[in-house]
Amino acid sequence: MKSSKSRTRPRKKGPHAGARVSDILIIGTGIAGLCAALQAARAGYEVTVLSKMGDVSESNTLYAQGGIAVLGSGDSPDLFVKDILGAGAGASSPKAAAILADEGPDQVRELLIEIAGVEFDRTRAGALALTGEAAHSRRRIYHQGDATGKEIEHKLVQAVGKSPRIRLLPGQMAIDLITSEHHASEPTAVYEPSVCLGAYVLDTSKGSVQTHLAKKTILASGGIGRIYQHTTNPPGATGDGIVMARRSGVSIINAEYMQFHPTALFHRDANRFLISEAVRGEGGKLINRKGEAFMSQYSPRLKDLAPRDVVARAIHDEMATTGEPCVFLDFARNAPKGMSIRRRFPNIYSKCKLFGIDITREPIPVVPAAHYFCGGVKVDEWGLSTLPNLYAVGEVACTGLHGGNRLASTSLLEGVVWGARSIRHITSQGLGELPALAASIPPWQDEGLSAAEDPVLIRQDLLTVQTTMWNYAGIVRTEKRLRRAEDDMGYLQRRVTDFYRATKLTVELVELRNAVEAARIVISSALRNEVSRGCHFRKRSNGRRGRREKS
Ligand code: FAD
Ligand code: SIN
Repeated sequence: MKSSKSRTRPRKKGPHAGARVSDILIIGTGIAGLCAALQAARAGYEVTVLSKMGDVSESNTLYAQGGIAVLGSGDSPDLFVKDILGAGAGASSPKAAAILADEGPDQVRELLIEIAGVEFDRTRAGALALTGEAAHSRRRIYHQGDATGKEIEHKLVQAVGKSPRIRLLPGQMAIDLITSEHHASEPTAVYEPSVCLGAYVLDTSKGSVQTHLAKKTILASGGIGRIYQHTTNPPGATGDGIVMARRSGVSIINAEYMQFHPTALFHRDANRFLISEAVRGEGGKLINRKGEAFMSQYSPRLKDLAPRDVVARAIHDEMATTGEPCVFLDFARNAPKGMSIRRRFPNIYSKCKLFGIDITREPIPVVPAAHYFCGGVKVDEWGLSTLPNLYAVGEVACTGLHGGNRLASTSLLEGVVWGARSIRHITSQGLGELPALAASIPPWQDEGLSAAEDPVLIRQDLLTVQTTMWNYAGIVRTEKRLRRAEDDMGYLQRRVTDFYRATKLTVELVELRNAVEAARIVISSALRNEVSRGCHFRKRSNGRRGRREKS
């Protein structure tokens, strides 16, 4: 493991002059990182928050459409838990689901609405409006039109910007976590249990690497959608946090459960723009090219509102059977009477219009796309990972909540709840001091590295990762495809690692290295687990279904 960190140079004294020290270092500025930052500042800690993007609001959170689940009328935490466990296909943690349902609604009110000033849509009577989504037994989702994430992200960034205790740093990309086991130059460090001490961070405009030391580190770096060719995720979702954690010896779990959203816009230039599940929640129906509604064949009871894995596979099968490249989502003929489609879904309306589709008059061509990583860094009910002093919150983490398949609109909520819980835990345990071993952490060493990055190679290698994952580790998996993916990614990783060791760092190079490693993590979990469950679906190589757990 030492070899992947071999760019460091031993020093006798420290923290070295250039190192930055904070109480809490947070890596990521989506909903989870920003909620943690706000709570940490309220608790009196000095916080540094990093985003690898030049614009700190750029994140999966920014693109969230449908909304954030709370409790609706005639609803209860027990019903909410039942829906989460149902969607999770028998693999969700009941404890995590209960925490979310008990604490989530109050946290949304307190942190998002009262502190950050997030505005959700209201009914004519002034009450907060609720929408429905697949596999929810009640209408319980707050939203702002179909651009809920934009409202939340912008309000959180504003709130964080007002806090004197929070240092928000754009263009700062964490490249590796610092642990006492891997980085301390003090030879006796190996006798102590390893602890997290912060991260090495690339300043993306200068190209230099800085040491960030912290008493506690919180990973909030989001998901891995970009390792797939077709995804709803924006470009930054390359799995950096998951692989940084893995390189530090932290447990990663449930990596086979990659969720595919059933309905991304099918258009050559639309980059798999998401068509929110709320469109089906409000009545939209899936049809094939002949105009036949097909979901009742796949899920007679829930039909278009079946859990995502069921709908995504149904579309996959329908496309395979008909030989068509997409199916259609018909909202024009199914929207509730009196609803203004343009007002309820302004973002989707205008995006589709841009591509010549008028959703108020015609069906929308859709296909599934990689959407959400249900697995991640194994954490306990407080967000603490298996490495002391390292927490993980939001999509990078696996609390067990989502099990084999995530219930819609619970991911933003999980970010709020576990962002806050991680800080409560730090407060209850005491922040502590920076471990003495931090003094023997050397600066990053990359002097003498001379190989120049070749953008063509990097782009092509990333494309190889993405097409391999889409074709061999996608919606339907077979052992043969997964073995091929394992071989191909193993070979690619060796090549990329050699190149990485010899080359001065850039964002693209670090992301490529991380994407290959993230791909290997997903593939090996998918290979190990022969049971089809939720969004991990294995077919025998002869075309038959693989083992399926009764759930
Ligand atoms: P993100 O919001 O992805 O933030 C990750 C942050 O980490 C970013 O700031 C990124 O720059 C930073 N980062 C990453 N790597 C590094 C690094 N190496 N160094 C420094 N910084 C780094 N969920 C819902 O609940 N409801 C919805 O309606 C919904 N709609 C969605 C629609 C779309 C199109 C997508 C893509 C997702 C949607 N989801 C929805 C899922 C949800 O948006 C995400 O799961 C959630 O926002 C993740 O939040 P996060 O804070 O964990 O990560
Ligand atoms: C959507 O609007 O369909 C996305 C909701 C989610 O991913 O939770």
